[in-house]
Amino acid sequence: MKLDGKNVVITGATSGIGKEAAIEIARMKPCLVLPVRNLEKGEQVKKQIVAESDNPAVYLMKCDLASFDSIRNFAREFKKQFSGLHLLINNAGIWQNKKSETKDGIEMTFGVNHLGPFLLTNLLLDEIRSGVPARIINVSSEAHRYTGMNFNDPEGKKKFSTFKAYGQSKLANILFTRYLAQMLREDGVTVNCMHPGFVATNLFDRIAPFLRPVFGLFMKTPRQGAETIVFLALSPGVEGSTGGYYVNKKKKKPSGAALDNKAAEKLWMLSSQYTGMEETSLINLPFENQI
Ligand SMILES: NC(=O)c1ccc[n+]([C@@H]2O[C@H](COP(=O)([O-])OP(=O)(O)OC[C@H]3O[C@@H](n4cnc5c(N)ncnc54)[C@H](OP(=O)(O)O)[C@@H]3O)[C@@H](O)[C@H]2O)c1
Repeated sequence: MKLDGKNVVITGATSGIGKEAAIEIARMKPCLVLPVRNLEKGEQVKKQIVAESDNPAVYLMKCDLASFDSIRNFAREFKKQFSGLHLLINNAGIWQNKKSETKDGIEMTFGVNHLGPFLLTNLLLDEIRSGVPARIINVSSEAHRYTGMNFNDPEGKKKFSTFKAYGQSKLANILFTRYLAQMLREDGVTVNCMHPGFVATNLFDRIAPFLRPVFGLFMKTPRQGAETIVFLALSPGVEGSTGGYYVNKKKKKPSGAALDNKAAEKLWMLSSQYTGMEETSLINLPFENQI
């Protein structure tokens, strides 16, 4: 997709995979808007992105995905300042080694990795529809295979496991992708998700710092980790292709739980209730497996 002069939003561009994807995509000369939770850190990274891409059109806007108010403020500001959105990359994500809560009192992993991008995307849908042809890319993980959706206790209130919380949030990214892809099928907007590989980023500082030197031998660099995002963003080869899960720039079949259409619908309803987006839960879709 040609991005010259178009509007692009990438979350989580202050480090790791998101930063590398932002640099590569900025080289295509779009207007790049980066929602960041820490503006000071964002300023440093912005300088690097501008310098490496030779694209001065990089803008920072405050957005903490652990706060529905912050996400709503970002969406409001974005709409005031920009017209149309042609590419949205929901990349920001966390691994928590201790249970904590978002500003809205929701378990942090479920909140930041799934509900935040769910709300952000829904709030930007009008802009995305007016920017067609447009693409949405959600960064998931092979960790989605660890678990199913626990609809009885999505926040792990009864029993919390960091692995399950992360795996479930990444499964939610795929179910969200597939449902949204179906919803936007006729609108000229494609929605795909991907796994970046096992990548040496700050995510693993929180998982097991002592294992980092060992892991390092097998890990991709952040730039390599960004390759499938950049491919899904720019490649003419994926034009019109929607609802897919990609690894190493190729479509891959996700877990059975990720292909469960009833779960996708249930998650959409649940997420709409959590985020107060009732109006988006009205669709009753004939749902096909596109994988
Ligand atoms: N690394 C891997 O091997 C791997 C494998 C599979 C999937 N992934 C996925 O890849 C994506 C990127 O992760 P990464 O590995 O590049 O990790 P990372 O280096 O830790 O980057 C995470 C990014 O998300 C941002 N972020 C975290 N919480 C946020 C919040 N509340 N509001 C707004 N932004 C927030 C961070 O901002 P700050 O700079 O302010 O912290 C940072 O920019 C994640 O979705 C992750 O699940 C990674």
